[in-house]
Amino acid sequence: MAQQLLEFLYLLAAISFVLGLKYMNSPDAARKGNILAAVGMTLAVFGTIFLYQNEEGMRLGHKGLIMAALAIGTVIGTLMAKRVKMTSMPQMVSFFNGMGGACAALISILEFNEMQAHAASHAQELISGDYSSAHITKLLIIFAGLIIGSVSFSGSIIAYGKLEDKIKDFVLPMQQIVNLLVFGSALVLSGLMISGSLQGSIWMYSVLGLALIYGILFVLPIGGADMPVVISLLNSFTGVAAACGGFLYDNKVMLMGGVLVGSAGTILTVVMCRAMNRSLTNVLIGNFGGNKGGGPAKSGSGGSIREVSATDTAIMMKYAQKVIIVPGYGLAVAQAQHVCHELEELLEKEGVDVKYAIHPVAGRMPGHMNVLLAESNVSYDKLVEMEHINPEFNTCDVVLIVGANDVVNPAAKTDPSSPIYGMPILEVEQARQIVVMKRSMKAGYAGIDNELFYNPKCGMLFGDAKATLTKLVNEVKAL
Ligand code: TAP
Repeated sequence: MAQQLLEFLYLLAAISFVLGLKYMNSPDAARKGNILAAVGMTLAVFGTIFLYQNEEGMRLGHKGLIMAALAIGTVIGTLMAKRVKMTSMPQMVSFFNGMGGACAALISILEFNEMQAHAASHAQELISGDYSSAHITKLLIIFAGLIIGSVSFSGSIIAYGKLEDKIKDFVLPMQQIVNLLVFGSALVLSGLMISGSLQGSIWMYSVLGLALIYGILFVLPIGGADMPVVISLLNSFTGVAAACGGFLYDNKVMLMGGVLVGSAGTILTVVMCRAMNRSLTNVLIGNFGGNKGGGPAKSGSGGSIREVSATDTAIMMKYAQKVIIVPGYGLAVAQAQHVCHELEELLEKEGVDVKYAIHPVAGRMPGHMNVLLAESNVSYDKLVEMEHINPEFNTCDVVLIVGANDVVNPAAKTDPSSPIYGMPILEVEQARQIVVMKRSMKAGYAGIDNELFYNPKCGMLFGDAKATLTKLVNEVKAL
């Protein structure tokens, strides 16, 4: 009976994962999707703790310890998630992903040691062909989980350190060859252990060490701007490693959860690469964005810029028919989403049609702008994706660019030597007037100058996005 109930809970959990992912397709349903999937996961976890029994009818032991671990993890996770700033979200995702990889690797270590302990008692069975093929399959899954989970763990921790600016990009001489040697050695050792040519925990720990080193070497040279893509890739690794755990325990819901994470992570990686018009290989070995933004732009255009005041901008917008706001990373840094929404509402009251143009890689993580604007209750139908908003710019009176830079840089279309060449951009130059809100002439994440700022139609409104938007709101109110 308990077993049937558990199977039923697993089925519910599996359905909730699939529906949860489906709801995450649109910003207005994403929260619901998250809660649904979390409820499913809770059912699966507690169902396993209280209802699971193995073939010999034994229940799970050490429930007190498990509960204590769950409580500690829940408190730490909740505090981290509550306290994290929106701009630090990618780091947190990376950290949590690393923990998932570590869990998968730990499962493999435990199962390997368990197999070793039982090897003697199963010596007789080992001689029969059936058992030995099951034995080999199990070892194969153990080593797959061990390697993939460890790479995901150490790689995610390095990605976390890089995003926190605690770890700098580092390229070894002959990096690719060293990487290949380390990874190849881990594979060869695993192969020898699976085939039975090598025995003993020491070799398993050697594989673990090599996989951890590979994870570090793999992520260290990758440029900062590519970290979200790498995190998404590592996320898919964690999913595959968790699926290995599902195989080991013959646990279908774990298997399915792992496969969903693995495939969703892979799809996200591909989508991000496409949005930047770059191949995954170029992301992994291109060292793009290693020169982090914030420094002076690499190449000056020699042109002159035109500064505009908040009063001029307020007049332009109040008497416009259509205004498109282009949010970027600076909006997140300034935490200006609420006042941005206030400006939008104010303009709408004046009869101006206001929309937001959402570039797929604006900000520093997938969906960054959607999450930010959803936080300030911007209506979802005002958020328009790049391919749908681009044809609208030529009908727009004023484009207000708030802390965005690379995603509106025309060099992506015009300069084949630019590191962002080929990346689809928001075609803001088509609008009648352009106002760029940023603090200085410094570059964005790609570290390159932006020709747009020298366009005669473009006015620069310097200052912190939150302070400037607040001024704009006051000016529009005063008009
Ligand atoms: P960026 O090109 O990074 O530009 C952000 C701009 O915001 C900067 O030029 C900065 O100029 C300004 N800024 C910073 N703090 C500000 C503040 N407090 N107030 C006003 N302005 C402020 O951002 P973007 O246009 O959103 O492009 C995103 C970049 O990240 C792209 O290169 C993209 O490829 C990369 N990337 C994103 C992702 C994802 S998934 N989103 C993944 C991989 C790579 P000042 O310093 O002069 O103020």
